[in-house]
Amino acid sequence: MKLSLPKSLDNFYQDSKPGTPSSEYVREMFIMAGAFDGMIANMQEGDMANANVSYNVFAKEYTKVSKMVKPWKGYFDVAAVKKLGKDMNLNANESVISKDIAKIAATCEKCMGERTAQVWAKYHWRDFDTVNISGEIPWPDAMKMLAVNFVGIGANAAEGNQTSTNNSFNQFKVLYANVKVACYNCHDSPRTYYVSDDVFAKIDQMGTNITENNMKNVMAIQQELGIQCYRCHVLHWPAQNMKSKMK
Ligand code: HEC
Ligand code: HEC
Repeated sequence: MKLSLPKSLDNFYQDSKPGTPSSEYVREMFIMAGAFDGMIANMQEGDMANANVSYNVFAKEYTKVSKMVKPWKGYFDVAAVKKLGKDMNLNANESVISKDIAKIAATCEKCMGERTAQVWAKYHWRDFDTVNISGEIPWPDAMKMLAVNFVGIGANAAEGNQTSTNNSFNQFKVLYANVKVACYNCHDSPRTYYVSDDVFAKIDQMGTNITENNMKNVMAIQQELGIQCYRCHVLHWPAQNMKSKMK
C-alpha cells in the first residue's frame, strides 16, 4: 500500500459502477489491448497490411494512455513503440520484431503487476463500510455483534447453560439471516456459499440440539459453521483491507 494510487486516476473512474469494468480507463485498456493483440495475430498470419493498421491504432492509444495519469508516465516506453513501427516499416526480421514486442509487453506487465489489485480494491469493490445490515447496522458493527452471538453459543454451551445458549443462538440466527439479505447490496443473483440453504439447515440443526440439551453436538456444529465465516473472510476481506489502507 506504500505505492498508493494517484489521486488523478479518480478522474477516469467517475462514471464507473463498482462490480463492473465500466470506467473510462478500462475502456482505453480494452482498445489498447485489442489493437496490440490484433497486431500480433495479423503478424502471425503474415498479414502485414492489417498488422500495420492495428499498429497505428495501438501506437496512438499507447501514447494517449501514457499521458492520462501523470505519475504513471514512467511505466510507458513510447520510444519502444516507435522503434517497433520503424522496424515494421523496414521489414525487419522476426527476431527483431519479437524483441520490440517483448519490450513493450514488459511495460504493460510491470504496471499491471503493480497496480491491478489496487485498482480493483479501490474501484471495483464496493466499500463494505457503506453496506448496512437490516438497513441500519454498518457492516463492521454487525460483524462484531455476530461474532459475540456466535462465540456466545459455543461458550454458553460449554458451560452447559441451555437458556443463555438459546438466547445467543436466537440473536445469531436473526442477524445471520440479515447478513444473507445484505449480500444483495453487491450481488444481483443468489450466491451459493456461506449463507446457502445447507448452511441454514445446519443452523436449524444446532437449534434442535439446543432444545434437546445436546450441548456436545451444539459445540461441534458451532465449530463446523465457523468455517463459513472464515471462507467468506478469505474471499472478501483482502480487497476491503486494501481499500481501507488506501483511504
Ligand atoms: C460477505 C461474507 C462474510 C460473512 C458470511 C461473514 N463475514 Fe465477517 N466480515 C466480512 C468482511 C468483508 C469484513 C471486513 C469488514 C470491514 O473491514 O469493513 C468482516 C469483518 C468481520 C469481523 C471484524 C469486525 C471489525 O471491524 O472488527 C468479525 C469479528 C467478523 N467479521 C465475524 C464474522 C462471523 C463470526 C461470521 C460468521 C458467523 C462472519 N463474520 C461472516 C465478511 C463476511
Ligand atoms: C460490498 C460488496 C459485497 C458484499 C456485501 C458481498 N460481496 Fe461477494 N463479492 C463482491 C465482489 C466485488 C466480488 C468479486 C467478484 C465480483 O465482482 O462479483 C465478490 C465475490 C463473491 C463470490 C465469488 C464469485 C462469485 O460471484 O460467485 C461469492 C461466492 C460471494 N462473493 C458471496 C457473497 C455472499 C454469500 C455475500 C453475503 C454474505 C457477499 N458475497 C457479500 C462484493 C461483495
